[in-house]
Amino acid sequence: THVVTDSCVLCRYTDCVDVCPVDCFREGPNFLSIDPDECIDCAVCVAECPVNAIYAEEDVPADQQHYIKLNVELSREWPSITKTKAPLPEAEEWKDKTDKLQYLAR
Ligand code: F3S
Repeated sequence: THVVTDSCVLCRYTDCVDVCPVDCFREGPNFLSIDPDECIDCAVCVAECPVNAIYAEEDVPADQQHYIKLNVELSREWPSITKTKAPLPEAEEWKDKTDKLQYLAR
């Protein structure tokens, strides 16, 4: 599967959504997750994300490993999103910040 990581928090650009052939993205208040049961590892979304938040599971950086389990958990709770929409209003302000897990809303 592929995994959405820290850069997405408080940005949620959603460019990744339109290119997904299997509609595997799930939408939360300020983050998207990838449902590992749906993702086919096509990797098309990786290049679409303006903040490089998406990694193949085996390439998730050491300091982002907790996002692997989080994508699984959140995908069970959150509804599907199938169309790209406007980023969060605070996206520009937060796009270069790190360690945003504390702000992830569920
Ligand atoms: Fe998040 Fe990047 Fe998609 S910021 S919503 S993973 S385009």
